[in-house]
Amino acid sequence: MAYSAPRGTVDILSDVSGKWQELEQLIRTICVNYNVKEMRTPIFEHTELFTRSIGDTTDVVTKEMYTFDDKKKRSITLRPEGTAGIARAYVEHKLYALPEKLQKYYYMGPMFRYERPGNGRQRQFHQFGVEMLGLESPYVDVECMVMAVTVVEALGLRNVKLHINSLGDEESRNTYREALKKHFAPALSELCFDCQQRFEKNPLRILDCKVDKDHPIMNNAPKTIDYLSESAKNHFDKVCALLDDLEIEYVIDTNLVRGLDYYSHTVFEIISDDPQMGQGSTVGGGGRYNTLISELGGPEVPGVGFAFGMERLMLALGNAQNEEDGLDVYLMPLGEQAKDLAVQIITMLRANGFTCDMDQCDRGLKGQFKSADRYHAHFSMIIGDEEVKKEVVNMKCNHSKEQTEVALENIVSFIEEHFEGGHHHE
Ligand code: HAM
Repeated sequence: MAYSAPRGTVDILSDVSGKWQELEQLIRTICVNYNVKEMRTPIFEHTELFTRSIGDTTDVVTKEMYTFDDKKKRSITLRPEGTAGIARAYVEHKLYALPEKLQKYYYMGPMFRYERPGNGRQRQFHQFGVEMLGLESPYVDVECMVMAVTVVEALGLRNVKLHINSLGDEESRNTYREALKKHFAPALSELCFDCQQRFEKNPLRILDCKVDKDHPIMNNAPKTIDYLSESAKNHFDKVCALLDDLEIEYVIDTNLVRGLDYYSHTVFEIISDDPQMGQGSTVGGGGRYNTLISELGGPEVPGVGFAFGMERLMLALGNAQNEEDGLDVYLMPLGEQAKDLAVQIITMLRANGFTCDMDQCDRGLKGQFKSADRYHAHFSMIIGDEEVKKEVVNMKCNHSKEQTEVALENIVSFIEEHFEGGHHHE
């Protein structure tokens, strides 16, 4: 039987894992810069957590979750996103009681959604997300957005736009809901089965229906922004004013409603027109969620956050690939005695912090030189019978092509001298 990875999953092979590490490192550096700390939550949670938070009329909950019963018949779901887990942990560990009222967390890791795999869409994919919990302030909304923009800028992603909108507070949403129902009622029978369900339960979800998206009734649907309460409008105006002051470019996108139910007030997405990603592809999105924590049994603590799809960020990194760093030394023993000596030397060199590898295939010089080349080795260290006898090694610098005989006890100082002021793996 031939095995293959399940549809929608991808093996990250060693030739690209270096680029993933680069992306992860860049993200961690930005998080340190913003004083955002990492939180790691489980990859599976009780199903109820996601249905309660993401919302039981959303596509994610109704169609895309990997849900199964464990051996004790508890319903378990592989996390489709990261916000719910962070919110659960925040409540469970009473992190709202910490002296620092604003808590800022980030996470990176695999998420699971049963979607049709395609350009930048997988069933197991990775997110980098940030959640800022504790304050209702528009300043924190903007801190999130600026951080998200910083990430795409640091990656050199061009043609990206920050789209923002406001869904308003409880009061705004109630009046908006009525307006939506009034708008859709005459065409209800023409909409898909799902939308007819959504109409009663959550008419907002009709707006991001993939089936009915071209129905004419969608065109002039009421906009959230026209139904904002006074305080919701003030909040949104302040967000826009702060972005203006910081000279962060954005567009107010009144069609932006997001696909998850926990949002209120500010929502945003970073949309790319990079041809490699496909037009209008959403690299990341997020927004404010003021009732999520209390819905999960915690106090009334507001939050705001965002998440990026890391596969989509990787596509961006693809444009600007770094030259792969090579080995400091590739050891080339010829014969068994030489190999025994090479094992001693390589262990000593690695303990001294040098990046090394050696031939384990007992090949001739030619094959070994090919490996030295493939690994971009700075030095090839040739050890033959002659060298073993004389207690020396032959160091060939692969840049200058110069060869030097070096006594065993001088190997480290020889390499160090050579790298002085130049490149060396730390
Ligand atoms: P989301 O918009 O559902 O938001 O997902 C965020 C990002 O994850 C998307 O913009 C996309 O780049 C990526 N993504 C989603 N599904 C897939 C997939 N099947 N394959 C590849 N990438 C995908 C959230 O998940 C919220 N938790 C964001 C948030 C955090 N809101 C507040 N805090």
